[in-house]
Amino acid sequence: MRQLKKTLLAFMTSTTMLLTACNTPFFEAKSNQEADEAANMQGPEVEGEKNEVQEEYAMTAEMLNIIETEDGVNYIQNPENIQVLVNKDHSLPIGYRPADLVVPDVKFSFDEMHEKKLMRKEAAEALAVMFNAALEDGVEIAAVSGFRSYERQQQVYTASVEASGAEHAQQAVAEPGKSEHQTGLTMDVSSAENRYNLDQDFGETEAGKWLAKHSAEYGFIIRYPEGKENITGYMYEPWHVRYVGGDVAKDIDSLGLSFEEYVQLVEE
Ligand code: DAL
Ligand code: ZN
Repeated sequence: MRQLKKTLLAFMTSTTMLLTACNTPFFEAKSNQEADEAANMQGPEVEGEKNEVQEEYAMTAEMLNIIETEDGVNYIQNPENIQVLVNKDHSLPIGYRPADLVVPDVKFSFDEMHEKKLMRKEAAEALAVMFNAALEDGVEIAAVSGFRSYERQQQVYTASVEASGAEHAQQAVAEPGKSEHQTGLTMDVSSAENRYNLDQDFGETEAGKWLAKHSAEYGFIIRYPEGKENITGYMYEPWHVRYVGGDVAKDIDSLGLSFEEYVQLVEE
């Protein structure tokens, strides 16, 4: 819209000059030239306006979910896809466990070995690059919780229902099979400033702000953004970063979309 306004302004300026100078042939000629120029300028800018509805996306059709529905549940058949969309409507296969899980070389909020330290190799490497970049900016981020098996997600979900009730759990924790944590592409992160807690206050910390600004440069998105709760199905989680790959993350970030909205655009 800003571009359209600029175009209109350029056009109006030239028209005004044309009208005010029409008595003298010299000015008329000059003004006509300017009008032509304005018209020429208008061409590409109007085209640019059309292009604001981006038609090419970094995510390609091959990266969309392949689904088979069984008893009303949409099971993802290509869960190893880096751009897999997992949510309340798209479930991972029950026994799915990525084959390339590793411990990222990053600071953790705890020392002991635990399954939740794991991430898929590509995501783990990108996480280390991102944490190091943050450190160079004087910001320390710590990993808190990554991979969760189907069974562990069941435990986390049940614990949340017992602690806060089913209604709250539905907004905060995915049911087993429906969590991105089972993909190995996600890490919950926090910082000493936030006492390593996973809560919305993290978004206001130095680390939370750094992530919101820079995570897309390293292939990560804030998967459950503020204001998109009705689309993602979950409350705002400034601590949950999901690896989707560099170009796709930048696309999603620059368009200001949730992953669900972005995937829908790619599907259309
Ligand atoms: N907290 C997110 C939604 C999960 O449990 O996967
Ligand atoms: Zn999470």
